[in-house]
Amino acid sequence: MSVHEFHSGVVSPTGNWWVPADKKEKLWVTIAFTWCMVLFAMMPLWHFKGGQNPTGVRGKTNAADFKARTDRFISDYQLKDAKGKPVEDAGFAVVAPPPGSEVYLEASQWQWRPVLKLKKGANYTLHLSSLDLNHGFSLYPVNLNFQVVPGYDYGLRITPNKSGDFRIVCNEFCGIGHHVMVGKVIVED
Ligand code: CUA
Repeated sequence: MSVHEFHSGVVSPTGNWWVPADKKEKLWVTIAFTWCMVLFAMMPLWHFKGGQNPTGVRGKTNAADFKARTDRFISDYQLKDAKGKPVEDAGFAVVAPPPGSEVYLEASQWQWRPVLKLKKGANYTLHLSSLDLNHGFSLYPVNLNFQVVPGYDYGLRITPNKSGDFRIVCNEFCGIGHHVMVGKVIVED
């Protein structure tokens, strides 16, 4: 058949175009289609049964607003020592928000601000946003991962179910200091 041959769609092409599919071909088409349907069904199923998709509140924000909101969160709930001096950990405010409160965690090159002190079994809404570019919130050693995107305030409804000292590792490459971008969450009984 020449490449210049014209087909109108009314005239059948020549060759073995209309030979019925082989048994093996049909089998593979069936397997592939069945698997497609399984994966298709898994998407909604996983959302409700999988337990890994967070349901949260999402909103738009900007760097200045989110920074201001984080500052307010810090001044509202920063821990004080016996002398009334604000508590810090390696230069970062240690903040202990009351159960049920809105918690703000700000990502920027290359830090997580502030250090959070949460209560086990209490409910919080954890707001994540970035002041500059994409960062990744990865709670270590728990397998929890979220994108932290500038311009968006991602409010996760969380209930810490394990006490301990956790690290927030940035898992989205964000420049030269990416590997040192580590934050801290302390969960108390
Ligand atoms: Cu922030 Cu990598």
